[in-house]
Amino acid sequence: FGQHFRYRAQVTSTQALAHEWAREGAPEGAVVIAEEQTEGRGRMGRSWHSPPRSGIWMSLILRPSLPLPLAPQLTLVASVALSRALKSETGLPVSIKWPNDLLVHGKKVCGILTELRGEQDQIQYIVLGMGINVNVTEEFFPKELKEKATSLAIEGKQTYSRPQLICSMLKELETWYNGYLTHGFEPIRILWEESAGMLGKMITARTPSGEKRGIAKGLDATGALLLETEEGILPVFSSYID
Ligand code: BTN
Repeated sequence: FGQHFRYRAQVTSTQALAHEWAREGAPEGAVVIAEEQTEGRGRMGRSWHSPPRSGIWMSLILRPSLPLPLAPQLTLVASVALSRALKSETGLPVSIKWPNDLLVHGKKVCGILTELRGEQDQIQYIVLGMGINVNVTEEFFPKELKEKATSLAIEGKQTYSRPQLICSMLKELETWYNGYLTHGFEPIRILWEESAGMLGKMITARTPSGEKRGIAKGLDATGALLLETEEGILPVFSSYID
C-alpha cells in the first residue's frame, strides 16, 4: 500500500479526491493524504475536524473482489490494523469501540469512514478514510469535542512522527487486509474482541428499527455486534453507539 500516492497541502476531503482517482482507475493500495481538510467528513453525515499539519487525514483505495454485504467487515479489519499500528508506535492503550472508533483513555483518537461503490452486488472499489489526531493540541479542539476527543500527543505527552505512523499504518493495513482475503474474517473477529474496550458493558445502539439497550458480548461471524438484551441476544449491524 502507498506505492501510488497523492499528497496535498489542502483539500476539501481526501475522500472526495480518492473517489475521483478511483473512478479514473487508481490501483488498489493507492493513498491520498492531505495536511488539512476544509470539509473533512465523518460518519452519519457529521463533519470531521481536520486542522493543518497536526493529524493524519488519509484515504486508501481498495479493490477486493467481494460481495457488497461483506464491506462492513473491512472497517473492522481496518480498526484492528490501525489499533495495532498506533499501539506499537506509541505504547498507548488503544482500544476499539464498535464499529470503527479507536479510543485512548476513553476518548477518540481515530475515526474510520468506509465508503464504497458497488456494481451488481459486488464491490467495485472502497475508499477507506482514516482520521488520526496525532499532534493536535488541546486548544485546537472545538469546545464540543473536548469531552469526547483527544490526540496521541495529549495522551502520550509527546509529539509523534507522522511519516513513521503512516508507514506503520499502511504496513499493518496491508498485512491484515491480505490476511483477511486469504483466511477470512475469523482471525480478525478474535483480535477485534481482544482489543475491544466495550465488551461486558451496557450500551445503547441506535438502529434503523429503534434503540436497543444491552450488554455488548462480542462479534458474530459476519461482524455484527452481539447485544444481550431483555429479548435475548440480538445482532446489531450498523448503528451509532454512544
Ligand atoms: C468518523 O469517526 O466519523 C470517521 C472520520 C473519518 C475522517 C477521515 S479523515 C480522512 C478522510 N477524509 C474525510 O473527509 N474523512 C476521512
